[in-house]
Amino acid sequence: MKALVLAGGKGTRLRPLTHTSAKQLVPVANKPVLYYGLEALRDAGITSVGIITGDTGQEVREAVGDGSRFGLEVEYIPQEAPLGLAHCVLIAREFLGDEPFVMYLGDNFLVGGIRDLVESYQAAGHDAQILLTRVAEPQFYGVAELGPSGEIVGLEEKPEHPRSDLAIVGVYIFSPAIHEAVRAISPSARGELEITDAIGWLIERGHHVHSHLVSGYWKDTGRLQDMLECNRIVLEQVEPEVHGTVDGLSEITGRVVVERGAVVENSVLRGPIVVGANAKIVSSYIGPFTSIGPDCVVADAEIEYSIVLDGSSVVGVSRIGHSLIGRNVEVSGTTGAPNTHQLMVGDHSKIKVQA
Ligand code: TTP
Repeated sequence: MKALVLAGGKGTRLRPLTHTSAKQLVPVANKPVLYYGLEALRDAGITSVGIITGDTGQEVREAVGDGSRFGLEVEYIPQEAPLGLAHCVLIAREFLGDEPFVMYLGDNFLVGGIRDLVESYQAAGHDAQILLTRVAEPQFYGVAELGPSGEIVGLEEKPEHPRSDLAIVGVYIFSPAIHEAVRAISPSARGELEITDAIGWLIERGHHVHSHLVSGYWKDTGRLQDMLECNRIVLEQVEPEVHGTVDGLSEITGRVVVERGAVVENSVLRGPIVVGANAKIVSSYIGPFTSIGPDCVVADAEIEYSIVLDGSSVVGVSRIGHSLIGRNVEVSGTTGAPNTHQLMVGDHSKIKVQA
């Protein structure tokens, strides 16, 4: 079985980060979200992976390479524009050949892997298998409506008035029957070839589409709060390890990882936390569920429930929470008059300051 991983798209909901980088490479516990998906595919016994790329294709290629680091053989399939999930299947026709495949959305995060799902698909041999999970805000997802005996009776993409709270998880398994479906459908009102329409086309023609309710944790990391939540879940599992140096004036509690070359001085770290390689934490408080990227500096500051990407600094600021800070960003405190917030932020940034 092959896999098709979708790592193109617009990523509008994670701007401004996605102006310059791929949303699939935003780190969760200091590891790009895409890597968790690639590892899950490998652990399910899949080796041949096609990755769909868009504007950020170069960055994705640099990060994943030929896939050998993950035990995979990776091919890249550039998509001219984000024309929809079903469009990705359409352009991957040659790569996919005539065998079943897993389609994995590169910004999705599924705890527990996919080995059982692949095995149950292989044993049953359905035409397609989708995963569903109950969500609080179904209007943001592809939504499935089930009949009395659990059969799928309807599928809708981001419906204004959802008919159920069952969201479609971004990991699908398709037989080659999907190729005819993606050729047969037309673009939706938002101009995309929707995978929900292709699956609906299969159902209408009597193909068997199996749905499976996942009980494990799943997140589409397309939005800030989902990214932070995912980071929380992964950090809750990390094994505490100190490879860097922590001085005697510092206090460390809970699950804390201090990576190689990192320095912690005169600080309080309440895990779960990961401090990236060569980062420096001085006279600061780092609270639970925080990932500090490699080469960051946090000094005279307090930060919790946040993700800070490589090379950024947070100096003289109290207190930052619920934040996602990009690469090479400087956040610093000012003192004295005038008592103003001074900002230089990119397009589509979101700043919340204490009123
Ligand atoms: P989405 O999150 O649905 O779309 P998006 O990336 O355009 O995000 P936003 O809504 O914030 O603008 O995409 C799911 C995954 O599939 C994601 O990893 C991007 C990828 N994708 C493609 O590779 N090609 C496409 O045409 C689309 C629509 C998505």
